[in-house]
Amino acid sequence: MPHHQFDKKSHAWSALFSEPMSDLVKRYTSSVFFDKRLWQADIRGSLAHADMLAHQGIISADDHAAIERGMEQIAQEIESGIFEWKLDLEDVHLNIEARLTVLVGIAGKRLHTGRSRNDQVATDVRLWLVGEIDLIVGLLTQLQTALVNMAEQHAEVIMPGFTHLQVAQPVSFGHHLLAYVEMFARDAERLLDVRRRTNRLPLGSAALAGTSYPLDREHVARALGMVDAQGNPAVCQNSLDAVSDRDFAIEFSAAASLCMVHISRMSEELILWMSQNFGFISLADRFTTGSSIMPQKKNPDVPELARGKTGRVVGHLMGLLTLMKGQPLAYNKDNQEDKEPLFDTVDTLKDTLRIFAEMAGGITVRPEAMERAALKGYATATDLADYMVKKGLPFRDAHEAVAHAVKYASEHQQDLSELELGILQSFHPQIEADVYEVLSLRGSLNARSTLGGTAPAQVRLQIARHRQRLAA
Ligand code: ARG
Repeated sequence: MPHHQFDKKSHAWSALFSEPMSDLVKRYTSSVFFDKRLWQADIRGSLAHADMLAHQGIISADDHAAIERGMEQIAQEIESGIFEWKLDLEDVHLNIEARLTVLVGIAGKRLHTGRSRNDQVATDVRLWLVGEIDLIVGLLTQLQTALVNMAEQHAEVIMPGFTHLQVAQPVSFGHHLLAYVEMFARDAERLLDVRRRTNRLPLGSAALAGTSYPLDREHVARALGMVDAQGNPAVCQNSLDAVSDRDFAIEFSAAASLCMVHISRMSEELILWMSQNFGFISLADRFTTGSSIMPQKKNPDVPELARGKTGRVVGHLMGLLTLMKGQPLAYNKDNQEDKEPLFDTVDTLKDTLRIFAEMAGGITVRPEAMERAALKGYATATDLADYMVKKGLPFRDAHEAVAHAVKYASEHQQDLSELELGILQSFHPQIEADVYEVLSLRGSLNARSTLGGTAPAQVRLQIARHRQRLAA
């Protein structure tokens, strides 16, 4: 019988167990090698809990002081890399608590009064995620600022706007860039909304049912900055829900996925634009790589990888949804599996946003190539139709007349603006010489001056609005 070799002190619950865990089971069930990244949140949560315990007279002032002292040393040990993380101690929480007890003795053992790892881990993940959301929102601001700067530089640059990837109407390149600013602005808004629901306190729910100690949960919430918009403490209101809810992680992943989807759309366009067939832009060399066999190549590896990493972030969302599906109340060990997908999502999103904000500044634009492309696909056909409407033709008839004009022009390999007035008049007799103004790309662009339209004057208004918003 191996049980007499079992070191009872190595586990918080060991008195009941008559045999040790096998190494395989230890490895399988432990999370310390990934959840140790929660250490700061874990210590913050513990300090707030201890402070409240002392305040409520549940532990003595001496014990409280000892816990604070011990935690300070532990933080230093972890920061300097000398802290010894032990697989045997399963997770970040037990590792830190065990070390605390080594350092300060019995006071360390009192820290867990009125608390369970179930409410502890839920608190830690929330605290950590709130901090990460703030960093991500900051990176989104940087990316938006970089795009707004570019948009301002290129407000007058004309490119073909596409639908179905067919040349549709000329648009300002600045306007095109601002479309992404809108997406990233919504991403930030979504994340801040998720932050509101994340920044609520599970601690005090204990294992699942609450606790018999006279805890002051609102005291802890305030200490941890878990407050609502009015500054009132934000405390999870149902203990069963509090320890088992991972909605916040799922919502965050959904917001992150959508942000990566936006990144992937932008990536796809950058990749197209820098292909030889478009030639609209080039990326600074530091964001591209060469080919080991084709010496002429400069590959857009960064946007391609970002496009690829979108799959992984969306995959994590599916993973988390599936993790929660069908879990009975309250805490189940399944939830330990929330961490790796969540951590990887945060890492991937942060790296991607950082690199895109930098890359935006390293894009060289080729206005001539964009304009040449805009001239190719009869991008001003709608303008000709609108011109005819102003001469009294119903829009449907104008549409038909212009279709004939485009057919004629393409048969003669000419642009609409290159057709002689007499020819144009054969499609509608009221066409006059001023038609050539609307057939120019610039005329078409300037004409689209509705709110949110591509006219450079509108683009500048939007730039001003974004600047004000981003400075706030
Ligand atoms: N490492 C665990 C997790 O990540 C902590 C909570 C463990 N609770 C328990 N009852 N086993 O979820």
